[in-house]
Amino acid sequence: MPGVITSVKEMIVKATFDSDPPLANELVRVNNSSNTELLVDHLESGNVACCLNIRSDFRVTKGQEVERLKKGIEIPVGDQIIGRILNSFGDVIDGQEQLPTDIKRKNILKIPPKSDNFSLSKPEIMTTGIKVIDFFTPFVKGRKIGIVGGAGVGKTVLTMELINNVAKSDSGLAFFSGIGERIREGHELWVTLKENDLLKNTCMFFAQMNENPIQRSLIGISAAASAEVFRDEYKKDVLFFADNMYRYVQAKNELSTIIDQIPSEGGYEPTIFSDVKILQDRLSSNENGSITSVQTIYVPADDTSDPAVQFIQHEMDSVIVLSRRVAEQGIRPAVDLMLTSSSLLTPEIVGERHYLLSVRVQELLEKYESLKGIIAIIGENELSPADRSDYAKAKKLITNFTQNMSVMTKHNGIPGEYFTREETLKSIEEIIV
Ligand SMILES: Nc1ncnc2c1ncn2[C@@H]1O[C@H](COP(=O)(O)OP(=O)(O)O)[C@@H](O)[C@H]1O
Ligand SMILES: [Mg+2]
Repeated sequence: MPGVITSVKEMIVKATFDSDPPLANELVRVNNSSNTELLVDHLESGNVACCLNIRSDFRVTKGQEVERLKKGIEIPVGDQIIGRILNSFGDVIDGQEQLPTDIKRKNILKIPPKSDNFSLSKPEIMTTGIKVIDFFTPFVKGRKIGIVGGAGVGKTVLTMELINNVAKSDSGLAFFSGIGERIREGHELWVTLKENDLLKNTCMFFAQMNENPIQRSLIGISAAASAEVFRDEYKKDVLFFADNMYRYVQAKNELSTIIDQIPSEGGYEPTIFSDVKILQDRLSSNENGSITSVQTIYVPADDTSDPAVQFIQHEMDSVIVLSRRVAEQGIRPAVDLMLTSSSLLTPEIVGERHYLLSVRVQELLEKYESLKGIIAIIGENELSPADRSDYAKAKKLITNFTQNMSVMTKHNGIPGEYFTREETLKSIEEIIV
């Protein structure tokens, strides 16, 4: 028996069924001129399905009949999506030819079982060619890096440079998930990848700020679901880039407000932490293959104590903090070296030489911060010779960690730079010994 729509409020559509109501996460189809598909969010008492109007179709009205489809959102998976841009529902949105109709599909909300006793074997470091990253936050296969910062500090530029450098040198597959950011960035990425002949090993998923919160909250999940297939069925090592993970939280929040949920402490939707956790857990490795991710995290109002920012950061193995204070000094990338950290900077992972250097660099940078205050009061000439030497070394180090990005070349005409790990370590040794 079909159900009947009893209320429509913005994107929330309620349908009452006499019997056999649909399940949560199932699609239902409205018998209207556009056969609108709705996603069941949850069931309410009296066989009422609370549904989301996923495509914001205004032709949905009270009194229309709805039918169960007994399936969820299914996106196309496999080789044929390589080089393509898809939206949250798996439609191609790059203006190129449609995908074949008989293509294999996967329900995005169906999570593959997690392997409990899996642990990553010997850590495998991938070189990014970006000194500050390779030195402070080593890019280790199967791990997660967060790029944290307020608006306009360079999160996207750094992510693009990473895609450019890592996807080029790696034979694996790169995913890019554009979540709620600037609309033109999707097109720019596509052009950059095409120019560098990288489309052949990249899949893109986009729901930018112009899309409704349902699509913005699903896009990271769709991309993760697709990445899982390449990991589990094709046994690939996948690189997963997401810009911006904070927008996922924001979209979930907007939705929650529309559904009239009572927010939790900090003003976020009640299940925000488990929502983030579930998505993060999907971006993991198992015996089939690995997913290595780089996720940007927008910091609202430059307030890093924001609970959502904190929670997403907590899921990362390394956190690169970009700050406005550093950007204002003209330092690019604008990495705040004091706040940037990684749990992977251990002798076992990066080796004794790199580890010992990092300890020494950390000491110098900390000393620099405290000397800066003293110099402001008494001047540099009053420092002891040892302090003055350390101060000069730290200053050189800070400059050494700046670098031109090749993705900026077409904007500023300055060629990009790429450094091997050996070059990076050597450049630091030359300064501090
Ligand atoms: N590494 C960099 N080198 C040169 N310019 C940069 C760099 N990073 C950012 N910029 C400049 O700052 C602007 C904003 O950077 P973007 O990455 O879009 O910021 P975010 O993603 O953090 O909002 C860029 O368009 C560019 O002009
Ligand atoms: Mg950005």
